[in-house]
This record gives sequence, C-alpha cells and structure tokens, in this order.
Amino acid sequence: MTIVVTGATGQLGHLVVEALLRRGADPADVVATGRDLTKVADLAARGVRTVAADYADPESLRAAFEGADRVLLVSGSEVGQRLPQHTNVVAAAKAAGVGLLAYTSIANAETSGVQLAAEHVATEQVIRDSGLPWVFLRNSWYLENYTPQVPTYLEHGAVLGAAADGRISAATRADYADAAAAVLLDAEATGGTVHELGAAPPSPSPTWPPPSPRPPGPRSPTATSPRPS
Ligand SMILES: NC(=O)c1ccc[n+]([C@@H]2O[C@H](COP(=O)([O-])OP(=O)(O)OC[C@H]3O[C@@H](n4cnc5c(N)ncnc54)[C@H](OP(=O)(O)O)[C@@H]3O)[C@@H](O)[C@H]2O)c1
Repeated sequence: MTIVVTGATGQLGHLVVEALLRRGADPADVVATGRDLTKVADLAARGVRTVAADYADPESLRAAFEGADRVLLVSGSEVGQRLPQHTNVVAAAKAAGVGLLAYTSIANAETSGVQLAAEHVATEQVIRDSGLPWVFLRNSWYLENYTPQVPTYLEHGAVLGAAADGRISAATRADYADAAAAVLLDAEATGGTVHELGAAPPSPSPTWPPPSPRPPGPRSPTATSPRPS
C-alpha cells in the first residue's frame, strides 16, 4: 500500500512519516512530498521516496499521487490561499483514484469561533463533495505554540493570553502525527470518519476559573495556620 504524505517538509508532516516508519511501514511504500526536498533528505536516506509537489501546481500533484493508495493532506500554511490549493490536492487525489484521503483539519470545525476554521470547513466540504473516501483529523492546538514562550512565562510568572473564558486543549505535534499514522495504516479505515483530537466544547460553558469558596482578602492566621503543638 502506497501512502503519500503532503507537507512532509514541514514539522507535522515530517513527524507523520517518522511515525509511519516507527509503526512498521516499509519506507519504499511511503512518499514524502513538499516543495523543498532538501528538508526531507533525511527521510530519503531512510528509503522513503521524496517527490516535489506544490499545492498551487496541479501537474506536480498529479505526478506525486500516481499509484497512491492513501494520501494525507496536511493543511497548507498560506492562509487565504488554502482553499484553492487544497482543492487542487483533492482533484489530484481523485484523478489518481486514491482509496482514502485524510485531511488535517481544526478542532470542532463547524462550531469553532477561530477565524482560521473557515478554510478548514470549506476544505472539508470540497473533500466530501469529491466522492473520495475521507477521514478528517481535527487537530487541536499544538502544545508547541506555547513552549517557545516558556522563558517569558517564567520571567513574568504568568501565562498571558486573550482567550478570556475560552478553553484550550492541546497536544504535541508528535501525538497528532502518531494519530495520523495510525489512521493511514489502519486497514479498517474506509472513510466517513471525523476524529476530534481535542476536547469537545463545554456545554453550557462553565465559569473559569471556578468561583472562589472564600472572598479574597487577608487571611486570618488564627483561622488558617495550624497551631504549634
Ligand atoms: N493546530 C495548530 O496549533 C496549528 C498551528 C499552526 C499551523 N497549523 C496548521 O497545520 C499545518 C501543519 O503544521 P506544521 O507545524 O507542520 O506547519 P509547517 O512546519 O509550517 O509546515 C507546513 C507544511 O505545508 C507545506 N506547504 C505550505 N504551502 C504549500 C504549498 N503551496 N505547496 C506544498 N506544500 C505546502 C510546507 O511545505 P514547504 O516546506 O514547501 O513550505 C510544509 O511542509 C500548517 O500548515 C497549518 O495549516 C496548525
């Protein structure tokens, strides 16, 4: 079974290829695509086939998907361009007659208030309309969105954000990549499945942080401190 991973020159896609190999895929059955193949030279050295493909270049996609049984479309990084680019990928997958198209979408796509969700929802619709068997991997936030700022958090003693009462569920890229690899290698994965890989939105939305059991203010040492015995 030939599995093509797009965006393999990026962080998530590269981890997906590594996870496929770790889970036992034959490197000769894995195709890693992206625009700059120098970024996947390490995978080529392990026996993975690397093929240049640009989401904006339908011909390159058609060539990359030739003989593919399964394709993972890693969502592109050029916000605003992604719907036409992803549409090209879906058309190429359709032309190649792939048996399963997996797509890395966004958590709770239909109800998400995140502006970036619109391109994911539209891409999901293009995929549904294509008639191809599909799986949506609705990845939530990457933990790595936070980790570069850990020194700043430590310096100020606070994690500052603009999410107000919004709640976050996050996992590492490696965990999302492993989930994608598991789906791509699952012989039972026949399509029509949405994997929500973040927590479901709370309903009704709870107050966070929870109300304090006591009013804020100086604490009485006699009330809270254990008496020396
Ligand atoms: N869940 C989250 O927190 C979160 C955060 C950021 C992004 N994302 C989404 O998840 C995707 C993967 O994340 P990541 O961390 O792996 O991002 P990344 O490291 O920036 O990788 C993006 C990948 O998309 C490829 N790509 C972009 N435009 C392309 C095009 N026109 N043709 C072919 N390939 C193209 C890039 O290829 P090149 O190497 O050729 O540029 C690269 O391989 C992102 O692209 C974005 O859609 C999610």
